[in-house]
Amino acid sequence: MRTIPDLLLYCRPGFEHECAQEVVAIAGAYGTAPQGTAHVAAGYVTFSSPPQARINGDWRRHIFARQCLPVFAMLDDLPRADRLTPIMQALNARGECFSDAWVEAPETDEGKALAPFCKSFGNALIGGLKKARLLDPNAPHRLHAFFPRSDHVYLASADPACTAPWPQGIPRLKFPREAPSRSTLKLEEALLVLLDERERERWLKPGMSAVDLGAAPGGWTWQLVRRSLRVTAVDNGPMASGLLQSGLVTHRREDGFRFRPARAVDWMVCDMVEQPRRIAELVARWLGAGWCRYAIFNLKLPMKKRFEESQRCLKMITEAAPAGADLRARQLYHDREEITVFARLATRKEPARR
Ligand SMILES: C[S@@+](CC[C@H](N)C(=O)[O-])C[C@H]1O[C@@H](n2cnc3c(N)ncnc32)[C@H](O)[C@@H]1O
Repeated sequence: MRTIPDLLLYCRPGFEHECAQEVVAIAGAYGTAPQGTAHVAAGYVTFSSPPQARINGDWRRHIFARQCLPVFAMLDDLPRADRLTPIMQALNARGECFSDAWVEAPETDEGKALAPFCKSFGNALIGGLKKARLLDPNAPHRLHAFFPRSDHVYLASADPACTAPWPQGIPRLKFPREAPSRSTLKLEEALLVLLDERERERWLKPGMSAVDLGAAPGGWTWQLVRRSLRVTAVDNGPMASGLLQSGLVTHRREDGFRFRPARAVDWMVCDMVEQPRRIAELVARWLGAGWCRYAIFNLKLPMKKRFEESQRCLKMITEAAPAGADLRARQLYHDREEITVFARLATRKEPARR
């Protein structure tokens, strides 16, 4: 009999090994020994720890996992003609009420082909839960039914406080037609995923100042201008004319690594394509010198040892901050071979989240 894993983690296809390395490292940091084992599959990872040391996942702790779910059942060889009956048997045996049910698949080609099935099966599952009196909008947990194949399902019970609030862990954003580049979606997603609503309100106020390093043609600047921030856009390349006409943007044709703000700004964002260590050094310098309060930047990861390199760069930034730094890193849906990081110096009033 196959053992049921503790955790199910969704990730970008191609980054399963980094996702697995990370969950093992996180389990180790909780002090569980031995650390448990991760099993890698296409677009997802499962993690099993010894019975005396089960861990509860929190997706916010992960860079490479888009979602992190505690599994309670795993069903194989589901009959094609009736997948619902065995799933409802498992749900009735558990007896837990759920606030909602999401039917999901990995973001692989095979998983994408299951999208129509997931949609129709979602309706059937909601119907089954209602009939069994296991659907209650006030229930604390959401049901996830994750199908790597149409005859194989993992069932998980998700606490909304510890799990990503988007199906497949992917916030679906619409490209704003007025934005000068598709990169705009990356900063929009970063602000949505790395900050909570209260932080966005407090830390992104009209009239605040920002520097955008590697700004052209202006997708990231556009996101800041949209929130009425004043932006110094640093890039030798041309900026979209509409942004320059907004009255909120100053374009400086300079090297982003040499640029120094005349006075401290609220935000520094950086999308320059460079070695991750150079970017980490740059961010450490900006934060350490107090040139900005908050930063969002990309770390382009090398082909090999991507997990180790991401950890090394984050450590460099933390060590440069005397009182520690609040660092939140994630491989966003709109990221490819890279991760996106939010950083700010830790303060006594607002302790670090990670
Ligand atoms: C990925 S693009 C940025 C896209 C931009 N964030 C947007 O949303 O439209 C990278 C930009 O970094 C700029 N860049 C690369 N190295 C730079 C440097 N040393 N100083 C300033 N800009 C640099 C490039 O000219 C390029 O425009």
